[in-house]
Amino acid sequence: MVKRIDQIRKDFPILEVEINGKPLVYLDNTATSQRPVQVIDAIAEFYKKYNANIHRALHTLSNVATELYENAHMKVQKFINAKDWREIIFTRNTTESINLVSHSLSYTLKPGDEIVTTISEHHSNILPWQMLRDHFGIVLKYARINQDGSLDLNHLSELTTEKTRVVAVNQVSNVLGLINPVKEIVRIAHEKGSLVLIDAAQSAPHIRLDVQDIDADFLAFSGHKMLGPTGIGVLYGKKELLDSMEPFLRGGDMIRKVTLENALWNELPWKFEAGTSNFADGYAFGAAIDYLSEVGLDWIEEHEKEIVNFLIPKLLEIDGIHILGTRYEDKIGVISFFFDDISPETIGFLLNEDGIAVRTGCHCAQPLHEFYGIRGTARASFYLYNTVEEAEFFVDRLSSIVRKVRS
Ligand code: ALA
Repeated sequence: MVKRIDQIRKDFPILEVEINGKPLVYLDNTATSQRPVQVIDAIAEFYKKYNANIHRALHTLSNVATELYENAHMKVQKFINAKDWREIIFTRNTTESINLVSHSLSYTLKPGDEIVTTISEHHSNILPWQMLRDHFGIVLKYARINQDGSLDLNHLSELTTEKTRVVAVNQVSNVLGLINPVKEIVRIAHEKGSLVLIDAAQSAPHIRLDVQDIDADFLAFSGHKMLGPTGIGVLYGKKELLDSMEPFLRGGDMIRKVTLENALWNELPWKFEAGTSNFADGYAFGAAIDYLSEVGLDWIEEHEKEIVNFLIPKLLEIDGIHILGTRYEDKIGVISFFFDDISPETIGFLLNEDGIAVRTGCHCAQPLHEFYGIRGTARASFYLYNTVEEAEFFVDRLSSIVRKVRS
């Protein structure tokens, strides 16, 4: 059974904090979510009871730590419905996951091979591909978006050819908050024989994922945006692909045998987890996955929709507001907006005086802001513990700030 929102809120100690003498209204969840006490306690529990390096020794603690860390991979496997837990590689974050793929593919791609991404990506789904363009002669193409923020699928389809090796797209943009039709994108790409990488940093925390149904070849996300600790992220990859790929980082634990001349790689996922892993945070990430699974992703998506449906009409009553990503029926709880006459920084600064935390600027998506011809936006992003009352308070304070600045 879904926990009631007041029970959920009690699990997050930080929601008791006051900012400028006002209760914190945390609307910066796209940057990082807060952690429930179950995750905070899991970190301490690991260091108090289980801490030892994994895979390295025969002693009991090392075996326990190894098992707990492997279990965390299995929890993620179940969470995204991957076929095999060995398809789950723990990285530091989405950025590292995408870099893992681009660096690993650099060994096999040929000059003239093509990669298609979109102008609505986070920089972490642009720069790893620019690296391949700039150093390996790969042709990089960008699919456009429509004015309402939806992906121009016809353009993406035109750009995807027999020369395309990877189509790399976000499932949800961290600015637009719109859910892209990734199954359709995978179909278009696979028809041309291309691999597909999904940046799920903003979707995995908010909507139910099924990698087998999507048929994605790679999918990347970060623990810290979904109640988990910082410094732990995921790369999902189809086993046969990961088996055939060169490792990204080389060193301890990712080998089966080393001589002075060469090395044999370890089995998955360890082939891609070189060095001492972040096993303590991996364990606590498992606790975050348990928490999200208990609440239920369907409930979280519905809850955010309720807030968005309440908020958008109220926001649109504010004179001169522009909202990005206006295909509201596909929107999760991410709302980026701007005014022609008031800077996002002014909005962010004044909201903070009322205890409301939003992010301002380009949100690591400068090409997208360039497309709209703007310098930046203010972004309010909601999650499972945010309430409609908080949304109401936010829109009320925003209206009053706008009136005050203009008076
Ligand atoms: N990628 C994070 C954001 O969108 C940091 O704010």
